[in-house]
Amino acid sequence: MKKLATLLSGILMIGMVSCEYQTIVPYDVVIPDTPVDFTTQIEPIFIQLNCKMCHTGSFKPNFEQGKVYASLINMNLVDTAHPEESILMEKINAGHNTAKDMTAAQKALILKWITEGAKGVIPPTSFKNEVEPIFTTATCTGCHNGSQSPDLRVNKAYASLIAKNLVVAKDPAGSKLIQYINAGHNTATKITSDQKALITKWITEGALNN
Ligand code: HEC
Ligand code: HEC
Repeated sequence: MKKLATLLSGILMIGMVSCEYQTIVPYDVVIPDTPVDFTTQIEPIFIQLNCKMCHTGSFKPNFEQGKVYASLINMNLVDTAHPEESILMEKINAGHNTAKDMTAAQKALILKWITEGAKGVIPPTSFKNEVEPIFTTATCTGCHNGSQSPDLRVNKAYASLIAKNLVVAKDPAGSKLIQYINAGHNTATKITSDQKALITKWITEGALNN
């Protein structure tokens, strides 16, 4: 009977130890004590593993240089309250495509970054690269091509919107551009909710000429 009790407690202890091992030391590597920096330590891992081979442009998350942080955050792929349950970690641990070539040290570094609060800097929306093209794809330029205010053609849109006071920096709701879009003015219905969010974000950030 005593033997059985010893055996049982032995099994229990092994159970506890292996459980502790999995939750507290998931990767058997030594990682630096200093806070992890996204731009210099985390993004390069995805670049090196060429995740952008598939994840590029509209195929999300976007793993192109400079786009990774905003994409991971906006898509809720990291969970700072439960780092190991983050969708990003689950994909990595499942050996998703090129993630199978990720080293244990790289995985540990990404997990540490999430545990530290997944800090990074979301670059401001670019008028030139992200906002201006929307006016062409939504065919605003069918009418707003010079004679009709505002001139929404490439290389003209920024100056025209500002000159006519159609955007109020940091005040999307007070901006006539947003009011017209929300009202479904002409082809404004072609503007997707993602695009609308982008224009709103650009105005909130100060309607920069960037
Ligand atoms: C060969 C193409 C390919 C490569 C390379 C690739 N992925 Fe993916 N990834 C996909 C596809 C397809 C999906 C959507 C289906 C799925 O969830 O598996 C996806 C989904 C994901 C998701 C989940 C997105 C969501 O909304 O749930 C994450 C996170 C992800 N990939 C991370 C990565 C990382 C990190 C790398 C590089 C280490 C990578 N992927 C490399 C094709 C790829
Ligand atoms: C079919 C032609 C047509 C299309 C397409 C069109 N507009 Fe207009 N837009 C007009 C006309 C005409 C006016 C002036 C009358 C008015 O204010 O409604 C105008 C006015 C505006 C104004 C107010 C200008 C001012 O000086 O007060 C904004 C802002 C605007 N349009 C944005 C857009 C955007 C953004 C798109 C694309 C999503 C777009 N328009 C598509 C015809 C068009």
